[in-house]
Amino acid sequence: MRAWVAPRYGPPEVLRLEEVARPEPGPGQVLVRVRAIGLNFADCMARLGVYPNTPKPPFIPGMEVAGEVGALGDGVSEPSVGSRVVAVPIFSGHAEYVVVRATHLRPLPEGVSFEVGASLVVTGLTADHALSTLGRLRPGERVAVLAAAGGVGTMAVQLALGCGAQVLAVASSEAKRQLVAQLGAQEVVSYQEYPQAVASGVDVVLDSVGGRLFRPGWRGLRRDGRYVLFGFAAAVGPKGVRWTKAAWEVARMGVVLPFLLVQSCRTLTGFNLSLVPQLAPHLHQRYQYLCQELLGGRLRPLIGRVFPFSQLPEAHAHLQGRDSVGKVVVTVP
Ligand SMILES: NC(=O)c1ccc[n+]([C@@H]2O[C@H](COP(=O)([O-])OP(=O)(O)OC[C@H]3O[C@@H](n4cnc5c(N)ncnc54)[C@H](OP(=O)(O)O)[C@@H]3O)[C@@H](O)[C@H]2O)c1
Repeated sequence: MRAWVAPRYGPPEVLRLEEVARPEPGPGQVLVRVRAIGLNFADCMARLGVYPNTPKPPFIPGMEVAGEVGALGDGVSEPSVGSRVVAVPIFSGHAEYVVVRATHLRPLPEGVSFEVGASLVVTGLTADHALSTLGRLRPGERVAVLAAAGGVGTMAVQLALGCGAQVLAVASSEAKRQLVAQLGAQEVVSYQEYPQAVASGVDVVLDSVGGRLFRPGWRGLRRDGRYVLFGFAAAVGPKGVRWTKAAWEVARMGVVLPFLLVQSCRTLTGFNLSLVPQLAPHLHQRYQYLCQELLGGRLRPLIGRVFPFSQLPEAHAHLQGRDSVGKVVVTVP
């Protein structure tokens, strides 16, 4: 099969299209014929060698795919060969075939395209986990969403609006801000305007950027406010991790004194869904909820750009270069 291999950590150009052996599903595993790849910022971090548990090069990156079941390993009776599925292998998905554990597959509902399927799981579950499970967002509350025009961001804006919240969306360019305004965000601001906008009080902050943006949001949290950190995009430049800038951005987040949380009644929480396998049953339930919302027309994964498999490195550069809106998808012929 063909796969995009990272022979070393580095910028998008390091990726090489190679002929490699097709993996065989072992006991409890399923072979998936990949039809669409959902690109995630985590794929860029993995290629750069800074994502948790990234294999040593050479390795095949690829967190998320949609496709068809190609073969079943020993002890697996379903889903049947040919079923349409979505899967989050974390690594190895930038290929024509990938092996995943049968318990990690989810059905792709009838009538939903592979492209939409590949845009739903990671962005949807991340936004939902941040908003509803950890953010405990309630109707009428005000929620700030950083990087609101991105894959997770556009999902979060829609889910928050669906919950009846007031959304303060933050994005870097005018085009991105127009997009989130079209999604229905009531307030849309740039990063420069954000400190002032959030100072009037906010109940929940969804922060995947980190660094200097943390303090204004943390200060703006109302009593019972929840600050949810789940990424550090501020550390990444178009070519790689900018270590000096990353250190500076971390320093600007400052220090949070635990005992002060009591009087101010604030919660600071963080997560990385790829590091909590024990949440799988809960996330499977939440995937069903996302499918209901999708099929009911209340949630629409926003696909900004689709690349052919042959241009996967360009798709990486598009996402890492901060040019993308919504989800970046790569189709596999
Ligand atoms: N913890 C988890 O379980 C989990 C799961 C999924 C995703 N995430 C995190 O959530 C974030 C969104 O993921 P995604 O895949 O949907 O990506 P994305 O939001 O589509 O793309 C990343 C966005 O981050 C913003 N950004 C801010 N500073 C940046 C920088 N220095 N370089 C590049 N982008 C920068 C950009 O939007 P603006 O130009 O508007 O700033 C960019 O569009 C990422 O930080 C990712 O690591 C975490």
